[in-house]
Amino acid sequence: MQDQFENELVHEQNHDTRSGSGASEEPSPERRKFLSRIGWGSLAAFAGINSYAFLRFFFPRVLFEPPSKFKVGFPSDYPPGIVNSQYKREFGTWIIRLPDGRFFAMESKCTHLGCTPNWMESQKKFKCPCHGSGYYITGLNFEGPAPRPMDRFKISIADDGQLQVDKTIKYPGIPGRESNEVYPQSLLKV
Ligand code: FES
Repeated sequence: MQDQFENELVHEQNHDTRSGSGASEEPSPERRKFLSRIGWGSLAAFAGINSYAFLRFFFPRVLFEPPSKFKVGFPSDYPPGIVNSQYKREFGTWIIRLPDGRFFAMESKCTHLGCTPNWMESQKKFKCPCHGSGYYITGLNFEGPAPRPMDRFKISIADDGQLQVDKTIKYPGIPGRESNEVYPQSLLKV
């Protein structure tokens, strides 16, 4: 009986050893390769992010703004009664020559929420595509939600005889007021 018990015990111990029920199981080569790849991948990603942050520190993002003073050609280039949209995209400005020959420069920005209106030649008005505000050629608002006229910039004659706009000098539209009267200095007579 004693012998039989000892035999069974030895048998069970052998079985445990073969089945590997202990905690010392080694990962297979494929698994080791997989884990190694994950490790290197994480390291590479970490290094990449750090390099990017490092470069951004030495080369910060620079915003190239168009100059605030710019020339827009000679007065003779503008027939009376014209709205020139040539500088709208780059400088956000219309050059306008009133039928009486005077010039002014107006910011192409709706005073409601800042959209860019369009000049409607057939209707002789500026129309904002966003919520329908309308402005006369002088920039005075007359329809839609715009609360005031559009703003003007200083316009003058440069040394070489060209028209020059200076966006650092601004004439903001006053609600219900005609900017021709509020800001006679915004008008240029040549
Ligand atoms: S932004 Fe021009 S009408 Fe609203």
